[in-house]
Amino acid sequence: MSDDRTSRDAIEQAYPQSFKELCGYVDILASRGIEWGLLGPREGDRLWSRHIANSLALVDPIPLGVTVVDVGSGAGLPGLPLALARTDLGVTLVEPLLRRSNFLELAVDELGIGERVRVLRARAEETKERFDVVVCRAVAPLDKLLRWTTPLLEPGGQLIALKGESAEDEIRGASPLLKKLGLRAEVLELRAAQGVDGTRAIRVSR
Ligand SMILES: C[S@@+](CC[C@H](N)C(=O)[O-])C[C@H]1O[C@@H](n2cnc3c(N)ncnc32)[C@H](O)[C@@H]1O
Repeated sequence: MSDDRTSRDAIEQAYPQSFKELCGYVDILASRGIEWGLLGPREGDRLWSRHIANSLALVDPIPLGVTVVDVGSGAGLPGLPLALARTDLGVTLVEPLLRRSNFLELAVDELGIGERVRVLRARAEETKERFDVVVCRAVAPLDKLLRWTTPLLEPGGQLIALKGESAEDEIRGASPLLKKLGLRAEVLELRAAQGVDGTRAIRVSR
């Protein structure tokens, strides 16, 4: 696994226009994020190599100028790094827990991105709005995600769920539901920048 310093340098090179804002968010995660218990204390040593690199892996597969919802955003992952790197996107962070949604409100305010990024305190399955792209990380297995998030998709929209090694198994497990909903799923191999660890995602579309 790449170390945090190497990943930070690689991300600085690949995203020079957003790097200052990404540093601001990493500072918030390293301080309030850990103090409020949204991230474990050991995560402080892998904020760039794991959390930011993972989130920025979604920069490439998302089309230009679309609306994105990050379901189960927690401390803002992957939605906040994505919003900082892709200023063309309108991003909604959906998170049901009060402490987490308060954290997100403060982070959005401090980063000065409130015009483009909104926090919605809700469960995915209660959300009534529609979006072009649903993203998520570490929220639920694919079959549950499909039940929660397909009603949130605009016609022609897509779900991109960050997943590790389990991606193929999850697609196999969800295949009856995928078939019933008329959806197809594929595994994407993604990397935020040269010099950071790659990750995988499941993309679901019609
Ligand atoms: C393991 S955390 C992952 C947080 C963040 N996505 C990350 O990768 O660090 C799962 C998050 O999903 C949220 N969650 C659980 N059930 C949910 C639901 N039905 N709708 C939306 N969010 C949900 C939890 O409150 C929690 O913040």
